[in-house]
Order: sequence, then C-alpha cells, then structure tokens
Amino acid sequence: MYLTVEQEKMLKGEYGWAVAKALEIIVKTGEALGAPRLVSIVHAHVSGVSYSNILEPGLAYIRSLFEKGGRARVYTTINPGCVDYSGFSEVIDNSLRGKQQAIDEALIGMGFKPVFTCIPYYHRPPSPGEFLAWGESSAVAVANSVYGASSNREGGPLTIAAAITGYTYYAGLHVPENRVASVIIEPGDPRVLDNPGALGLWIGENIRDIPLLKNARIDFYGLKILLASSAASGSHALIVLENITPTGTFRVEASERVMIEYSDIEKYSGTGPLNGDVLGYIGCPHLHPGEFLEIYYHIIRRGRLPAGSKLLLTIPVEVYKMYSDKVHYLRKLGVDVAVGTCPVVSRLARKFDGLVTNSGKAVFYLARYFKNRYLLTNTEGVLRAVYGQITG
Ligand code: F3S
Repeated sequence: MYLTVEQEKMLKGEYGWAVAKALEIIVKTGEALGAPRLVSIVHAHVSGVSYSNILEPGLAYIRSLFEKGGRARVYTTINPGCVDYSGFSEVIDNSLRGKQQAIDEALIGMGFKPVFTCIPYYHRPPSPGEFLAWGESSAVAVANSVYGASSNREGGPLTIAAAITGYTYYAGLHVPENRVASVIIEPGDPRVLDNPGALGLWIGENIRDIPLLKNARIDFYGLKILLASSAASGSHALIVLENITPTGTFRVEASERVMIEYSDIEKYSGTGPLNGDVLGYIGCPHLHPGEFLEIYYHIIRRGRLPAGSKLLLTIPVEVYKMYSDKVHYLRKLGVDVAVGTCPVVSRLARKFDGLVTNSGKAVFYLARYFKNRYLLTNTEGVLRAVYGQITG
C-alpha cells in the first residue's frame, strides 16, 4: 500500500504508540481489502463503546489508547453507551454505570464528543462525497443513502483508530466503482411504505446487492428506520433512494427488478396478538429533535398512559438538553425516556411479555428477549397500541 511521508512516520511511532498502533490496524485492514492507499476523513463516529457489549477487553483497549496518548485528529462523535445518562429510566438497567463511566472518561479524554447517539448526522450532517469512518451500521446507511457521503461499516476498534489518525483505507464504498445499484425494488402497493421497519427487514433479508428503491415516498424519520432495519437484517450500507440519494454519488446498472407486495412484508410485522406486560418502544435509531417533538405532541394530545402500559423513548443527550422540561412532563404522563442509550446496547431492568415498536432493527436484536412476541408497526401504530387501541 502506498503511504505518504506523514503516514510512514506515524507507522514508525514518531507520533507516539497509540497513533502507530491505530495506523497499523487501518493499514492491515486496508491491505486485506486490497486498498491501494489511505484517505483523509472528516468525521469519525466511534461505535462499540457500550460496556454491556465490549466488557473488560473493550475497556482495556480503549483505555490503553487514551493512556498512551491517542487524541482525536478529526471531529469525532460517540455512539450510545449502556446506561441512561439522565438516571431516571426504570426500563434500562443502570447497574453498569461505573464501568461505562470508565469507558466514557477515556473516550472524552481522547477528545471525542460525548453525544452518545446513533444519529451523528444530526450533529454534523455530512456532505456528498465526503469520506467518513463511521461504525454504527444504521448511521452508515443514512450517510451513504441520504447524504451521499461515503463510509464503510466499520468495526468499533477501527473507528477509534481512524479518529486518532484522521485516516481510513480507500476501499469498499469509498471507491465510486463500488457504488453501483444492480437491483431495482419497486413497491407494488403504497401500504408497503407505511411500515418502514418491516420493509427494511425485508430488503435486508432478501436483497444481497446494492438496491435502488423506487418511489421512496417516506419522510426522513421513516427512512432512518428503514435503513437501520435493512442494515440489521442484511449488510446494506447503501440503498439508493430514488430522488433522494444525491446524484453523482452512485450509478445504476440494474439487471434485475423486484416488485414488493404488501403480503411480502406482512410476515415481518408481528407474531400475533399481544397481551400481558408489553413494552412499547420508539427511538431506534435515536429520536431526532423534530421527531421527538412530533411524538411529544402526539402523547400530550392523548394524555396519561393507561395503567399497566409501558412506553420507552430513547433519545440523544443533546435532545435531552434541549427539551428536558418536555422529557420530565412525559415522565409525569407515564412515559419512560432513556438518554444516550437503548435496549440493544444495554440491559433491560426487568422482563416483558411482548414488544411493540416501529423499528425493525429493535425487533431484529430484541425479539428473542420477548419470547419472539412482537408487533412491528409504524409510530402511530405503536402509540395506538400503548393507549390500548390495538392489541396485535
Ligand atoms: Fe441506535 Fe440502539 Fe437502535 S444504538 S440504531 S437505538 S440499536
């Protein structure tokens, strides 16, 4: 692989142990993928930071980079951790707070922004063609598909390595020749677009190559759910969205056309009637400020949750700071709001009999904890369910 003089010096340790180790990880990954060179990135988004997922080896890795001088060379944001940063959630188990704090201190010490969210594009919307090193699969899919920026699905260790060197390898979706849609997906029934989570799961499971989704008349909040869901059930980091993905950031050479009917996605939308102690969940990916407000007004129009109903919202730290009065008011109405975390990267404080959510990604990772009893619907459907208007 071709390296610049600066990169050679980094690798030799002239910028310290942490930078040398980090660049070595990037170069080895790049060589394995056939990258001819490295590229400068403008934004790293560090994932794999939840103690609940990475445990002691992860903590030790992050701490060693911090203690040996690793510092952010580019704008860097942090994915959710495993605790509710407001400390009020009764659904999220906060017992790992001390361990998570040790990880957070090292990350913040390296100069990473403590946003603790999976929607880094809210903090810094990427521009078309920009090189990123993001490690949250849902955010990567939004960066490529909605903003036309370029990021591969990076693993947590590589995102930190990219943050403290400012580089990633030139391969995968950074190469224009690899951003080619070869399958056209066409919704055959408008109801297909009403459940973005189920549509995303279907795409992830059934389409292997980069698809182009025609008539993607879904708002931004629905798109982030669709992209998160397809990235969870498949490996999609780019879905070309007709009239949305910026032109010039992809090509279409399609030899295959697939029509999706409502019956195709119906099987992803649930397992039958739910009863008992059911958790309603909205906020995977985390709620954008505008989305939070929409849901807030929906809830205050409906009033207090019925006794026995549970609704969890997960939001970024920044949304909590902006709307803490509204969050507290929601809590008075019986809504649980967890900040800077989510049930996938943390542990639930107690068991539930079923899950109602608008997120296919949440279903993909959580269904087994609910004995596979779930309803996957849209945001309105979740609210109707927790207010007792539908049961499955
Ligand atoms: Fe975000 Fe957690 Fe979902 S990190 S995308 S809310 S699984």
